[in-house]
Amino acid sequence: MIGLYDRLARPLLHAFDPEDAHRLAIRMLKFAPLPRPASDDKRLATRAFGLNFSNPIGLAAGFDKHAEVPDALLRLGFGLVEVGTVTPLPQAGNTRPRLFRLDADRAVINRLGFNSEGADAVLKRLAARAGSGGIVGINIGANRDAADRVVDYVNLIERFAPVASYVTVNISSPNTPGLRNMQQAAVLDDLLARVVDARERVARSAGPTPVLLKIAPDLSLSDLDDVVGIARSRRVDGMIVGNTTVMRPASLRDAEAKESGGLSGRPLFALATRMLAETYVRVEGVFPLIGAGGIDSGKTALAKIRAGATLIQIYSGLVFRGLGLLTEIKRALLTALERDRQDSLKDYVGTDAASVTAEPWPR
Ligand SMILES: Cc1cc2nc3c(=O)[nH]c(=O)nc-3n(C[C@H](O)[C@H](O)[C@H](O)COP(=O)(O)O)c2cc1C
Repeated sequence: MIGLYDRLARPLLHAFDPEDAHRLAIRMLKFAPLPRPASDDKRLATRAFGLNFSNPIGLAAGFDKHAEVPDALLRLGFGLVEVGTVTPLPQAGNTRPRLFRLDADRAVINRLGFNSEGADAVLKRLAARAGSGGIVGINIGANRDAADRVVDYVNLIERFAPVASYVTVNISSPNTPGLRNMQQAAVLDDLLARVVDARERVARSAGPTPVLLKIAPDLSLSDLDDVVGIARSRRVDGMIVGNTTVMRPASLRDAEAKESGGLSGRPLFALATRMLAETYVRVEGVFPLIGAGGIDSGKTALAKIRAGATLIQIYSGLVFRGLGLLTEIKRALLTALERDRQDSLKDYVGTDAASVTAEPWPR
């Protein structure tokens, strides 16, 4: 099925405007008769945040923003699917065009701006699949015009904790003006205190729901000191490093690179992996990390794990490589385990963090 998709559907999707192609891909997943996937090799099994993952490869937030196809995505073989970002109220996001494929750079720029069908619609879909198994996390964000953004996050935690495997607090999208300022120490401390408090309140009925924090790769290292310190003291369960970047590496060649928005894909790999390693050394094993940004091969997946990721997430790589990327990563991880005579990926996590942080800063 994956081979068929990659041979037929992907070339077709590339002929469309990127946003139309994305809608079409979602529609295909809604109606495709997907067989149950073969069980993953036991050596790929990963435990993090109190959850068991059949493999460590996740679909990053932003592909299935409205939770339309989480079960189809699990059937394709992802170990976790993060739906969202969802905002409390429906909102349209920015005007089109707002999604750009940089073919020459194997990159994507998006300035979607949290287009969301809103919490009611997404909640209904997740509630309908509750108990179906598989790890489905929800990524939450504030409405652009929220009077109090912290209140938005607290409400979303309360509503989604009962139906999601985990909740990601996304304060790192570059496309909602001012959102990333919530990464500043005083604001973040207040936000996380109230978010974790809300999680504790609902835990009595919903059970424990891990809360993760997703950060931008564009933080300064002194901001990162603060963010990790606060995440540790407020006892979040993990962090995702990270979101798209507003930087434009000098290597970009595609004419679309001039578009504003968040850049993802291959040119993000070095920066995102450096920030992951910097986060790993600051977290000192207190909680696990999810590494995202620029994974487009088995090699870059393993490098992400070695830089400090217990789990990884992919998005842009799928645009260029198709679902064969997922198969390739699984195969590459198993080949590494065989070569090194290991029986779990645990021993790779963070082995290169110190050396990555000693390199010159990626440009
Ligand atoms: C089109 C698009 C939409 C995205 N939307 C979201 C989003 O709604 N919420 C979020 O936290 N991240 C979003 N992201 C960021 C991804 O989840 C991921 O962190 C980032 O793209 C880096 O991974 P990649 O290089 O594998 O794409 C989006 C990325 C893309 C390309």
